[in-house]
Amino acid sequence: RTPIILDTDPGIDDAVALAAALFAPQLDLKLIATVAGNVSVEKTTRNALQLLEFWQKDTPVARGASVPLLRPLRDAAYVHGESGMEGYVFTETSRHALPVPAFQAMYDCLINSDEPVTLVTIGPLTNVALLLTQYPECKARIKRVVMMGGSAGRGNFTPTAEFNIAIDPEAAARVFESGLEIVMCGLDVTSRAILSPEYLARLPELNRTGKMLHALFSHYRSGSMETGLRMHDLTAIAWLVKPELFQTYPCFVAVETHGTYTSGTTVVDLEHRLERPANAQVALDIDVPGFQAWVSEVLALAP
Ligand code: BDR
Ligand code: CA
Repeated sequence: RTPIILDTDPGIDDAVALAAALFAPQLDLKLIATVAGNVSVEKTTRNALQLLEFWQKDTPVARGASVPLLRPLRDAAYVHGESGMEGYVFTETSRHALPVPAFQAMYDCLINSDEPVTLVTIGPLTNVALLLTQYPECKARIKRVVMMGGSAGRGNFTPTAEFNIAIDPEAAARVFESGLEIVMCGLDVTSRAILSPEYLARLPELNRTGKMLHALFSHYRSGSMETGLRMHDLTAIAWLVKPELFQTYPCFVAVETHGTYTSGTTVVDLEHRLERPANAQVALDIDVPGFQAWVSEVLALAP
């Protein structure tokens, strides 16, 4: 089983990614790190803890950064609702996050693991940037970073920037400049990773998880229940389990941090015009029916 740390800002598509990370038999989820993004870190942490309560899982949760490295937080409550997971009333939980910040918990997890651990990031990259700044030596313990973030084409937050990168461009730049192996699942594939209206309609019959997700989905504004919903964050988990569903290309990727209109844009040098060595494997194509088949398989394994 591949050991992973999931860095997340739940978030409705984050909740689905968490289900897959918990129940895919190929993965060993060691730690959940939360970060401010879709909503505040208080809310993303509470959401993560409530999801674990829902599934009766004991994965440790560490609360991470409450603001991006240099900028104020701009959230996505307009996509995920005020709570970050609008649409389902979770039972209160007495669970708590670990008493250390996420970057510290990530470091502890990395050095205590027998084998290098994969960092899966499905929110802004603030925690990972803090980890790399505080403990640069931990890079040897990181197998790779598998990221939902960026785009080789258009954006979904600004005309050219994807949300996770746009919220903390300086953090994302630090990760792309780190020399770590990076797999970038950006909007090029994630906006095609759609759950069909037919599948969505059948979800409540699947199990408790299906009922809960169906309730969240009716509030989620990344597509629609009638035309299908985009499962951005789930693609990062799909890559870990079924990389053969993706076409990736080695490219140099830079994050624009100074642009008046373009901050947070991932500049993906597909044609090698900048003559810089590749620093990421960029996913540009996804087998959509294969992705959908895997999603129905893995969600059926949840209670
Ligand atoms: C990303 O932004 C967030 O709203 C989603 O959870 C996902 O991580 C998509 O751009
Ligand atoms: Ca997310």
